[in-house]
Amino acid sequence: MTPRQATTDLTHARTHRLLRLESAHCCALIEWEAGRMPVWRHFGASLPETSLTDQWPAAALRRQANASMDRLDGNPVYPGFGNGLSLNPALRAHADGVAAVQEWVAISYTQSESAAAQTLVLHLQDAGGLALDLHLALWQSSDVLSLHSTLHNHSAHRLQLDWQACGCLPVAADLSELAHFSGQWGHEFQWQRMPLPSAGWQLQNRHGRSSHETPPACFALMPHSSEHQGEVIAAQLAWSGNHQFALDRCDDGSALLQAGVWLAPGELRLAPGESHSTPVLHASWSDQGLNGVSQNFHRFARQQVLQWTGGSMRARPVHLNTWEAVYFDHDDATLRALAERAAAIGVERFVLDDGWFPGRPDDHSGLGDWWPDPQKYPQGLGPLIAHVQGLGMEFGLWVEPEMVNPDSALFRAHPDWALQVAGQALQLGRQQLVLDIARPEVSAYLFEKLDRLLRENAISYLKWDMNRDLAQAADAQGQMAYARQVDALYALLQGLRAQHPALEIESCASGGGRMDLGILRHTQRFWTSDNNDAVSRIAIQSGAARLFPLEVLGAHVGPAPAHTTGRSQSLELRCAVALFGHMGVEADVRKLNTSEAEVLTGWIALYKAWRGVLHGGTFSQGRTANGVWWLAQRGAQAILGVFTQSAPASMHHAPLRLPGLEGEGQWQLRLLGMAGQERARGDAPSPWLDALRGAGVACAATELRHIGLPLPHMNPESALVFSLDLASN
Ligand code: GLA
Repeated sequence: MTPRQATTDLTHARTHRLLRLESAHCCALIEWEAGRMPVWRHFGASLPETSLTDQWPAAALRRQANASMDRLDGNPVYPGFGNGLSLNPALRAHADGVAAVQEWVAISYTQSESAAAQTLVLHLQDAGGLALDLHLALWQSSDVLSLHSTLHNHSAHRLQLDWQACGCLPVAADLSELAHFSGQWGHEFQWQRMPLPSAGWQLQNRHGRSSHETPPACFALMPHSSEHQGEVIAAQLAWSGNHQFALDRCDDGSALLQAGVWLAPGELRLAPGESHSTPVLHASWSDQGLNGVSQNFHRFARQQVLQWTGGSMRARPVHLNTWEAVYFDHDDATLRALAERAAAIGVERFVLDDGWFPGRPDDHSGLGDWWPDPQKYPQGLGPLIAHVQGLGMEFGLWVEPEMVNPDSALFRAHPDWALQVAGQALQLGRQQLVLDIARPEVSAYLFEKLDRLLRENAISYLKWDMNRDLAQAADAQGQMAYARQVDALYALLQGLRAQHPALEIESCASGGGRMDLGILRHTQRFWTSDNNDAVSRIAIQSGAARLFPLEVLGAHVGPAPAHTTGRSQSLELRCAVALFGHMGVEADVRKLNTSEAEVLTGWIALYKAWRGVLHGGTFSQGRTANGVWWLAQRGAQAILGVFTQSAPASMHHAPLRLPGLEGEGQWQLRLLGMAGQERARGDAPSPWLDALRGAGVACAATELRHIGLPLPHMNPESALVFSLDLASN
């Protein structure tokens, strides 16, 4: 060691300190030294002892590499730009082409602690007059780390912001795989897993809503990490607009994950003295595989995100949604008959979908005119609502407030209220335009119309739709307004809920095009997909449940054949899949024959009996050779669904191991429901299935976890639903 290196090391040893955030199973460690960029030392397992990290600063553990810049750094908490590090900068900003370089250095930090979370704010500064507060909160019982940043422009320039990361997270080099979701309309949350390319990876969304294609989430995993074991870091952005995620390779082979709002050119400018805060990135680490991070996110959504009316969730009512039953054909007698049949089979909330307002015989006109169609509803919605309530159900209504059809009274009166670009032909999507809801007069109009509907009618639920992407999202001044649109939406939702505290809202965007933790703060249910085909739904709901708890995932028993795929499945399979969500029915129930009505009534009753477990418990999922299983457990009760999707290659089903089952003792297993046929000779006896169907069988928890539950071998497109009750400890 040369004398110069020894001096450097001693200096570091005297001045650096470790800032620590800890939760039940997780720990974040940041190395801090005044005047230098703080660096990440750890985000992952709990670390009671950190002798090496305490004593040795990151830079002292390295030597200057060949052909490198003359500086030694660790992995920065917020990479600068133009400062000799080639990492993805966490901020990209300039002042009309100058002042683009940032070298962030630590000024001070503040730490605080509550029963719910430990928080740390790092105060950084750049010589160019910028200051940045990086906020980190580690939530005690969910092990979720929430990050966001606030930029202050103390310079004399007006700053043009091209990118401001919420924060950055370290991903250890051996978490060398990544996963995210792809999708399209009717085909949301398709799981994609791959090695992290040596050049890193990026995901960008410019749809103006969270999108079917690239929902705001990503995962970093070890190659051997599975549903049940191995380290996983997952991150999701609480934001319902454009976004960007990146996994950038650091100079030691590890990666930095950063995420934030994707900003359109010119979208965000900061005048001297102004500040800007990002939305929040929520990240979770677990060594219990993908189920571990999902369970963390579920706990977090339940504890920190969801805002239930009255302060806590009440049993999620069974829906009847009129869309696939009648579409736009709203006829009083039909709707009353539909409501009567719905109530008879156990439905608890009747949701009147699209078609109730004037000029809406189809989807070409009417959006914007939010009052009842005097032709279809000559006395308003009141009589139908009274009928629905008289049958013991709540009433919900579909709206799509952010949109306007050119063929509407609203657009004729205010053509300038739609987002548009002067001189360019209007870009329509489903024959509609997007209103500039950040304009106070536009949101005031929407608030007034919706508030009036809610005041004049006993409507306790809104299905809030958003059926097109944003394009030409420029305001009246020609400035891009994607992000302001999202802020204005949140404000509108918040205002309505403040005025109508008992109101629940469903977030729909042609199905699951707007599902994220940002909108979930203002809503209580997602319409997970327009696709009610039960086979498609297995993949969609498996994906969505990685991020969100089952109680917010709308799942409907649709007609057969399914309207979105033309494929038919048995009523039992459609019911079994919808059971594992917030269950509803979206079909013309007047047409059910007696035995179908009996089957549907039975599954609805099953949902009611088990929703306390499905919606309050721990959810895990796994794969079988030919399908998937879903397990929801709450203490001494659990419900298991085993879905066979394709034809099996083996003669018998392998015993199903349930590594996610918590607790010990003897569990009583019973078959609650079955969809489809067993693959067995018809004349062969089936004592095992008979026992499961009858009084049930006792299995030790250890057997279920390590040997597995023997299963009947099922045909494709089938399901088995079991109850598991703890019989003795
Ligand atoms: C979207 C929704 C559907 C339905 C229709 C009505 O497609 O996802 O559930 O509400 O709009 O137009």
